[in-house]
Parts: sequence; structure tokens; C-alpha cells
Amino acid sequence: FSSEEQTENYLFKIVLVGDSAVGKSNLLARFARDEFYPNSKSTIGVEFQTQKMEINGKEVKAQIWDTAGQERFRAVTSAYYRGAVGALLVYDITRRQTFESIGRWLNELYTHSDMNVVTMLVGNKSDLKDSRRCRPSEGKAFAKSKGLFFIETSALDSSNVSAAFQTVVREIY
Ligand code: GTP
Ligand code: MG
Repeated sequence: FSSEEQTENYLFKIVLVGDSAVGKSNLLARFARDEFYPNSKSTIGVEFQTQKMEINGKEVKAQIWDTAGQERFRAVTSAYYRGAVGALLVYDITRRQTFESIGRWLNELYTHSDMNVVTMLVGNKSDLKDSRRCRPSEGKAFAKSKGLFFIETSALDSSNVSAAFQTVVREIY
């Protein structure tokens, strides 16, 4: 293999999924650029960022895809999931409804991608302690029942954001 082909082998497509306003775009902004937008607008269509990461001393690239949670703004579903080897299923710990939607997002993911896709359930906005409506134990139990990884994150204060992406990429690798 040429060095270019070698690099190609380590480009992993990861998709972000979940209801509108759970913080998908801000998790990506925090991870890829260390930025946070307090008043970000809904994503329209699809965006992606390629992020270099080091796993076991090797450089790998994660191509992270982000689309809208709202149906009317979403990218074409099959194209969005095609070739994905990792997924972050995101809910907002302050909005119960977004946690209850996770089953549907998981069905969509499994319908359109390989069943072996490495999937992390992400309870975002852990900084909003006083408005919490989902206990970590509930996320953990759901994840366990479906064979997913689980983590709570905050795109606002950065906690666990890198860990969420790193764990998925390490498991793929
Ligand atoms: P769609 O593109 O519509 O699907 O939404 P999204 O999931 O990309 O949500 P987005 O990242 O745009 O964030 C929605 C709102 O939540 C914004 O006002 C963000 O500033 C806020 N937000 C995102 N992550 C966090 C977080 O960890 N903590 C807090 N407090 N607010 C957050
Ligand atoms: Mg968005």
C-alpha cells in the first residue's frame, strides 16, 4: 500500500443522531474546534468535520457527520448513514422526551447502517444539574439493554466530550 492508501484505511465515518437541540452540533464544535455556541441555530442539511486523533500511537481520522434532528431540515437518511462505523446517539438530560426518542433513532441507525456500528448513548448538558430529568442510571440501563456504550457530556463545560468520541473511535479501531 502507498502511504495515502494507508491513511485511507484509518478514516472512520461517525454520525451524530438525536432530537433537535440536544446539542449535537455543539458537541462536534467542542470536539473539533474547542468552541461553543450559546445561541446556535438548528442545523440545515448536513455538515461534517474531519478530526485527527491518536489511537494507540497511530494517527486516525474521524469524519464526523452532523444533521438536523428535525425531519424537515434533515439530510437524505440513507446517504447520511451509509458507511458509518460509529454513532453517537444524543439526548438532553433536561428533556425527558429526547431520551424517550432514542429507541426510534436506534431503529433508524440499524435500518440504514451495518449492525456492527459502534454506538455510544450520550446524555448531554450534564452542566444543567438543577434541570436534570433523566438519571444517569436510566441511561446506563438502557445502553446496557441494547449493547451500547454510555456517557454523560457537557458541550458547555467540555466534560467527557473528547472521551465520548475517543471511546467510539478506539472501539472501531
Ligand atoms: P439540531 O441541529 O436542531 O438537530 O440541534 P442540535 O442537536 O445540533 O443542538 P445544538 O448543538 O444546536 O444546541 C442546541 C442548544 O443547546 C444551543 O442553544 C446550545 O447552546 C445548547 N447546548 C448544547 N450543548 C449544551 C450543553 O452541554 N450544555 C448547555 N447548557 N447547553 C448546551
Ligand atoms: Mg445541529
